[in-house]
Amino acid sequence: MDAHISTLATIPKFWLGDETVFDSAQLINSRPIVVFDSGVGGLTVARQLEKLLPNANILYVVDNDWFPYGNKLGSAVAQRVEQLLDELCTQLRPSAIVVACNTASIAIIENGLDQFRYNCFFVTPPIDEALEISENKNIVLLATPSTIESRHIIQKITKAKMHAKIWPIATQALVTLSETKLAGENPSFANFAELIDHHLTKEQRLSVDTVILGCTHFPHLIDDLRKIFPTAENWIDPANKLASQVASLTKKKAASINPPFKITTFTSKHELTKYQKAFSNNGFSISPNH
Ligand code: DGL
Repeated sequence: MDAHISTLATIPKFWLGDETVFDSAQLINSRPIVVFDSGVGGLTVARQLEKLLPNANILYVVDNDWFPYGNKLGSAVAQRVEQLLDELCTQLRPSAIVVACNTASIAIIENGLDQFRYNCFFVTPPIDEALEISENKNIVLLATPSTIESRHIIQKITKAKMHAKIWPIATQALVTLSETKLAGENPSFANFAELIDHHLTKEQRLSVDTVILGCTHFPHLIDDLRKIFPTAENWIDPANKLASQVASLTKKKAASINPPFKITTFTSKHELTKYQKAFSNNGFSISPNH
């Protein structure tokens, strides 16, 4: 795994259009809900959040400088995310921070960060919910390598295996496919289908009734995944539950600005055009002035 240690000492910057600081008074006073991910995965959470809190100001933070998280060491990701959260809280007064990334959430939980220092909400693969819903107890868990190899998930899977057949499948390729698809391309799933064939026999694959989407990038690919797991009836996406938790606890805090804004900020200016489509299709602008 690439520990990416060399850039750890650098204080993260946030690029809003061409600006490097949150210098808009409107932005600072608006107490936005921050939705955070390494890439476009958090949009699956932001969409649910918007349904429940249509008047909320949302600042979507993309850590594209460190993308992807899923093949890095959990301790390095935890340290990086802590720096980002510190910096965001210094520059803004978010009403809540939604860590819309399973890999980052698990890294933070496992590396003993003070989760209560920030008003944070975390997403983790909903294994218990899958166990409850699955009828035949043949379950696939799709997540990044870092998530699948974490102590937290290994322990949960060991426990789950007492009640169900659960196949954990680590895939970083699916994260890339999700980014490519949201950038407007039509990527091939052949290599991913091959990876599944390495993990499961055809009979096993066609017995799966529940798939856990253990990475926020994966719900973007649900139509493609349905072709690979055609018998799956339950697609467990934690976004809705997470959004409900955020909505019930932040309703009163966010300052209302009419109309509410949805802005995206990046930690690197590199190749920003590839994000344009994904964010504008979801109603996000990449500068406070647009
Ligand atoms: N969206 C992130 C998650 O939920 C992972 C993406 C990445 O590997 O950076 O785990």
